[in-house]
Amino acid sequence: PHNHQHHQSGWTSGQGTPSSQSLSTRRELYERDFPVYKQPVEVGCFSLDSERRFFNDGRQMRYYVEPDRNPHFDLRDGYRDRFIKRDDSVKEKLDHILRWVIANRSKLKSKVPSASSSALDVDFVTWRGHLTKLLTTPYETREGWMLAVTRFGGTLYISEVETESARRERENRTERHEEMMYWGYKFEQYTCADTVHALPDPGGVVNTNEAFCTVVQTRLADHRLLFSGEVDCREKDPEAPPPPACYVELKTSAEICTPKQRSNLHRFKLLKWWAQSFLPGVPRVVAGFRDHEGVVVSVETFHISKISHLIKNEYNCWKPTVCMNFCCEFLSFVKRIATEDSHRVVYLFSWEPYKDVTYSVHRDSQYSFLPQWYIEEITR
Ligand code: A3P
Ligand code: MG
Ligand code: MG
Repeated sequence: PHNHQHHQSGWTSGQGTPSSQSLSTRRELYERDFPVYKQPVEVGCFSLDSERRFFNDGRQMRYYVEPDRNPHFDLRDGYRDRFIKRDDSVKEKLDHILRWVIANRSKLKSKVPSASSSALDVDFVTWRGHLTKLLTTPYETREGWMLAVTRFGGTLYISEVETESARRERENRTERHEEMMYWGYKFEQYTCADTVHALPDPGGVVNTNEAFCTVVQTRLADHRLLFSGEVDCREKDPEAPPPPACYVELKTSAEICTPKQRSNLHRFKLLKWWAQSFLPGVPRVVAGFRDHEGVVVSVETFHISKISHLIKNEYNCWKPTVCMNFCCEFLSFVKRIATEDSHRVVYLFSWEPYKDVTYSVHRDSQYSFLPQWYIEEITR
């Protein structure tokens, strides 16, 4: 049984008197039993092509081809002459997910006969990446976030707003950083084929407009979630389990030469890798370890279900239960604050490291993000 005497709420005010207007992110407040997180179910998928056009199908799916344990993949190859980079100054907000919802709303329609036509039978619609940021918040010391929330037809839509400091960093990346961001995509090209029977083509063009996205439904405690996330590839074995259990997440990371470096991987990188893949139920991450020249020298598989055991040997390490309990409390906080049901209203939740989550309310502002076409389609 839960020990209610020791269960402190994260809802606080600056003075320590409970006013419920902000949410604490202190780790100690979220160390309790793991909340109910239902096995995520894939309810659909969509693809974005080389020009970022939406398709309600899996045409951009790729197939994982197991590389040599000690390959010599040159991740710098093609950066100058075979790279088409997505324009990340274009903010797509929830648009692609909303397109998917419009094309698949029969799958989501409320079973309550009296419910309005716009009722979706979920509490939250968002990107997996936004939830990843929530999961890692109690351990994040560098980057804050802003999340815009609109309640519409009873559903809460969550869409990220770029912070001032994130915009500054994006506009002032060094040439080295720009190139290193390419390395992750180049690793995908070395390990993924376009069809079940094909092989990877390291001589092709890397185009980061292309994406295959899964759409999953699940529940965190009493929060019914619908979210989408980009998936790198799937196992090609026809005997492989159905999605999302056949999906594989690909990562690159600096080569590990010392116990200290291994410890840092566990303490910092595995937190992000775990959060990103645990949410949609992707069972494994394949990591390519590269040297300073961008050559992958070894490949290792990390099973998501084993990561919590791996990190238990680290002193003062992150805990999955803290991540999930914080996310759950944040969603409860949002439900309690974002009460007015209107596409014109945005509740803007903001967080900076070492501070509490706060919010502000905006009507007909620059923050509104539900497009007119969505409002019209869904209320038809
Ligand atoms: P790596 O993570 O292997 O470096 P993802 O792993 O989520 O599929 O993303 C693919 C690649 O996109 C990453 O590969 C990285 O190169 C780039 N990328 C993703 N998120 C990023 C971020 N927040 N900042 C910089 N690069 C990012
Ligand atoms: Mg990816
Ligand atoms: Mg990846």
